[in-house]
Amino acid sequence: MEEKPLLGIFDSGVGGFSVLKEVQKVTSVDTIYFGDCANAPYGNKQESEIVGYIKNILSILKKNGVTHFVSACNRMSVFTTEKLLDEMNNRKDRYIDMVDAMHEIAFKDDVHVLIIGTKATIASEVYQNILQEKGVIFSTFSPVHLAGNIESGDIQAVSNDIVDVLMYADQTKATHILYACTHYPLVDSLFKEETKIKGFSFQYIDPAVYVAYQVKKWNLKGNKQIIYKTSKETDSFKKYKGLAS
Ligand code: DGL
Repeated sequence: MEEKPLLGIFDSGVGGFSVLKEVQKVTSVDTIYFGDCANAPYGNKQESEIVGYIKNILSILKKNGVTHFVSACNRMSVFTTEKLLDEMNNRKDRYIDMVDAMHEIAFKDDVHVLIIGTKATIASEVYQNILQEKGVIFSTFSPVHLAGNIESGDIQAVSNDIVDVLMYADQTKATHILYACTHYPLVDSLFKEETKIKGFSFQYIDPAVYVAYQVKKWNLKGNKQIIYKTSKETDSFKKYKGLAS
């Protein structure tokens, strides 16, 4: 009997909904979304703790019949080694993460990209390495509380964080802002609104678009059904889960 494909998309919390939204545009495959809201944000948590979460999430998804995986969390991607995937019996050709997808992006010559992400993602330099390979000029900035503020739904704090990002982007003469955390595109409209108010003209790059290209290449078919799972049904989880349908 032919295996029925089932996609699993997962994140520390609600951030992966921004990835689910892009993926839904290019595939009909049935999908399980898992958000680890009980432990979000992963923010400053140690590697060993995060590796434990990754293993737990992969086990849950497999028990539910997931055949293809999208890690919609940069923080997890940083610690997902081939060794870990082997240990978990996960096929590398059925596993996409945010950072891998970045290899697909092409840039014009005159861009200056401001990479924004959690402290750990910035410290890992994964995005910087890719941009360097591509010969792109970049700077980095970490709005340390932004993912947590989105997760807890504190819109005033989110707005303040966004202003900090924009002021830094202006200072560094950035032309593009790259979302290196999947939580940030959830407030893309606030970023763009504030950009307009301040009279800036930054372009935004969401790696989720490139993740979606990769999922499309799998050519999986289904009924576009989405099953939502979380370790804690928070208000934000309820709020954002309608985003992709
Ligand atoms: N959304 C996750 C990412 O892309 C991380 C947010 C967190 O710190 O939990 O990195």
